[in-house]
Amino acid sequence: MTASMIETRPLRHPPLGQQPRFLRKLFGDTQDALDELASTYGPVVGLGAGPVKLAVVGDPVALRELFGLPLDSFRWGHKFNVLGFVVGDESMIVSDGADHKRRRSAVQAAFSRRRLNRWIPMIVDRADATIGHLVADLGDERAIVDLYPLGRTIVLEVVVRSLFGERLAARSEEIADLFRAPQAYLESPAARQLPHPFPFTRRSRVRADRRALDALIDGEIARIRAHPSGDPFDVLETLVADGTLTDDEIRDQVVTLTGAGFDTTSASLAWMVWCASLTDGLWDRLRAEADEVLGPVGGPSTADDEALGALDLANRTMRETTRLHPAGVIAPREAAVDVVVGGYRIPKGTLVLASAHLAGRDARFWVDPLSFDPDRFVDRDPERVALADIAWVPFSRGARNCIGFALAQMELTLIMARLAQRLDITAVPGTSKPRPLGMVVNRPKGGAPMHVRAREGGS
Ligand code: HEM
Repeated sequence: MTASMIETRPLRHPPLGQQPRFLRKLFGDTQDALDELASTYGPVVGLGAGPVKLAVVGDPVALRELFGLPLDSFRWGHKFNVLGFVVGDESMIVSDGADHKRRRSAVQAAFSRRRLNRWIPMIVDRADATIGHLVADLGDERAIVDLYPLGRTIVLEVVVRSLFGERLAARSEEIADLFRAPQAYLESPAARQLPHPFPFTRRSRVRADRRALDALIDGEIARIRAHPSGDPFDVLETLVADGTLTDDEIRDQVVTLTGAGFDTTSASLAWMVWCASLTDGLWDRLRAEADEVLGPVGGPSTADDEALGALDLANRTMRETTRLHPAGVIAPREAAVDVVVGGYRIPKGTLVLASAHLAGRDARFWVDPLSFDPDRFVDRDPERVALADIAWVPFSRGARNCIGFALAQMELTLIMARLAQRLDITAVPGTSKPRPLGMVVNRPKGGAPMHVRAREGGS
């Protein structure tokens, strides 16, 4: 059958009278809007009309087609992409065509498996150091501790060390501060994110912090040019030595990697803590596995890729959490030409919202999709494996997938294992999983406050 013979149909839309409500809800309460749209009109649905056209694609098979289309079918540097304001116009995340390819390839080399494996003991050590401070503060007490900021500290320290080596580690807190305004800006209502030049606003704070961050990175680039360390695992030094990117481009990629790797991973970690603490017996099982694989705490970690592979339950807990709570609920791109996915025609100019959230909860692909069960990935028949492979897309797929997917999965697995080994964590009685906050990055509203105590008898 030729392409022209394949039957296609126009997108289904809610009635015009319903559209303003859906659009408001999509920008305010994204997940509920996605669930309502999908249950009423199906997992591929259009919204808007005239110059403002949106299409939600949450059907796993349609998503697979979407991720497989030629890259020039879509544009990421479109007018609705607010990320450019935060990470810079030369970031790969808002680039297209040859610019995207060059910027992404230069960075891709820095995320080789060999380099990632070198970071394994560093990740465990950073988790230990931060958990160690908490244990010292707690003494023998049990207290309510918000584990979201604790996770953010660990994740930022990992990102800073992986990008800049040990040199900038002492300035991690300063760097974390410079990412607070961008986070608040991206979590603010869509209307507040519209471009304007006014001072004393969230946007003006982002601009000021970005200038400070640029100065810090420029200082590092200058220092590397003057005194290269020759460390083949230092990402920034690799980019400088590579020579294919200008200094402005390098700066924007580094801010992108820090920002994209920081909020998403720490949000996922907070969801993991929630999910694990609310699942009977899971914390003890995670602890037993980590004790066996990572051994007792003390001295620098010697964990390696084999140990990472043996943390099977921690890995499944990560996969199950990111299925139910993908940090990117929707991943937007603009159709640069008319495209067809799942048999639906999506006209050129439509902002296409690929939804890992809907795919991860599709009952045709997941048994009892709303229940949290890391064991769903055990002893599956080939059909289940294939279905899960299609519908698990929290890191997207294809040539624009998440460049940090292996690093993020590694961090989440190792940090979770160490948390289970060193802390007794239980949900505060009467609390339940919070509502999600944020459209660009989805995190539990109110963080992850838990009853926390140092593990009895230590580890
Ligand atoms: C749990 C953690 C993470 C999640 C859920 C996540 C999710 C995603 C998703 C869904 C995309 C694709 C967006 C699209 O299709 O347009 C993406 C892109 C990207 N991610 Fe991640 N990410 C995570 C962690 C990281 C980390 C640790 C890094 C780097 C240190 C990173 C760097 C990037 C970059 C640079 C892109 C843009 C790739 C491109 O445009 O070619 N992410 N991420």
